[in-house]
Amino acid sequence: MLKVISYSIYHSPNAYLGAVLLDRALQGIPVAIERRPICIPKTRGIKVADLVGGRETPAQSAYHREDCRRWATRYGIEINLLPPGAFEQRAEHWRRSSYEREELPARAYYASVGSGKEATLDRALFHAAWVSGRDVNEEAVVRDAIASSGLDPDRLLARAQQEVVGQKLRESLNAFDRDGCPGVPTWIFDGQRFWGKDRVDAVVLAVKQALAGGVTIRPVTDSDCEWVSAVVRERWGAPIVVSRGAIHHPDQLPGFVAVVDDKRVGLLTFHVNDNECEVITIDALIEGIGIGGALLQQVTALARARGCRRIWLITTNENTRALRFYQKQGFVLAAIHRHALAASRQLKPSIPRVGRDGIPLRDEIEMERDL
Ligand SMILES: CC(C)(COP(=O)(O)OP(=O)(O)OC[C@H]1O[C@@H](n2cnc3c(N)ncnc32)[C@H](O)[C@@H]1OP(=O)(O)O)[C@@H](O)C(=O)NCCC(=O)NCCS
Repeated sequence: MLKVISYSIYHSPNAYLGAVLLDRALQGIPVAIERRPICIPKTRGIKVADLVGGRETPAQSAYHREDCRRWATRYGIEINLLPPGAFEQRAEHWRRSSYEREELPARAYYASVGSGKEATLDRALFHAAWVSGRDVNEEAVVRDAIASSGLDPDRLLARAQQEVVGQKLRESLNAFDRDGCPGVPTWIFDGQRFWGKDRVDAVVLAVKQALAGGVTIRPVTDSDCEWVSAVVRERWGAPIVVSRGAIHHPDQLPGFVAVVDDKRVGLLTFHVNDNECEVITIDALIEGIGIGGALLQQVTALARARGCRRIWLITTNENTRALRFYQKQGFVLAAIHRHALAASRQLKPSIPRVGRDGIPLRDEIEMERDL
């Protein structure tokens, strides 16, 4: 499985925002995230900028607050920034503590690795710092985060004190330096560094490019039955699909499954009738890595082999991505069936009135490719 290494510090709002966005963006994509929370040794200073040998001017600090707030609003992420002066008060505390800054929560995280709840704890620690606005260097706060993750605070904190855990944290800090990370969050993928909450798209693109070569297509088999039903229900809003006034049950149709790294990531269903092949559904569960193209190629080859003279499908007026995709795959517009969705809704009432991008869902667009 591919792996993204993620360096973070729990009291960095940029690391928090980046962690939320990366988790969101990689959902459903077969890639592992290796989380490496680090701490700031007092010998280096007390701010994230100190850690990497920089200096943060008051203007830069004020700008970071403004930018984090803007970023959180833009992506709908809850954040509560510390009131002015609170950081300085906490910093005094951190200076006097026997731990380095963010050492305790990072130790708790490494102590949890292998429990299966490490990602939940990571999120809980960030949540404590940036939603609840608490100081995650306080033991009570770490305890609460551990408990909310379904782990035992006493046992985990005892483990967090072990030398092996301290060693893991030091290794992560050394690796952060060795990898030349300019700050947090930094993600490492395929030997490349991606620094900053605004680089999530670039990480995702790199991951997708790495996955693209590994897409394989195979026919749907009986063992896929439950999965096909689940995909169709989730993506088409019901177990049935309506096209040109006919009801189809995709889970009873032949089809193809796209697989990446042993994970099913795409589905196409079709039926052949009168020397014509109609694609009934096509879904890429990871977009933009060639799954849709590979599925269409496979069904086109099958239709040719069966002597079909055309392959066709119905899409809808608001599905601009699909319209672009099919045309780039060699399909042409064959007909526009205006207001056809009104009749389809009689057969499938769950068809919404408004579709993608807020466009009214109204017409069927018939697309075809001569074979
Ligand atoms: C429409 C849909 C099936 C397309 O599937 P897809 O897997 O994203 O399609 P592909 O990856 O083959 O192609 C999409 C784009 O990714 C690009 N792409 C594919 N592999 C790539 C790679 N390795 N690197 C970079 N770009 C790549 C393709 O060139 C294409 O770009 P273009 O539009 O600029 O030509 C998909 O968007 C989807 O599931 N949509 C929701 C369901 C839906 O609407 N179904 C159709 C109903 S009629």
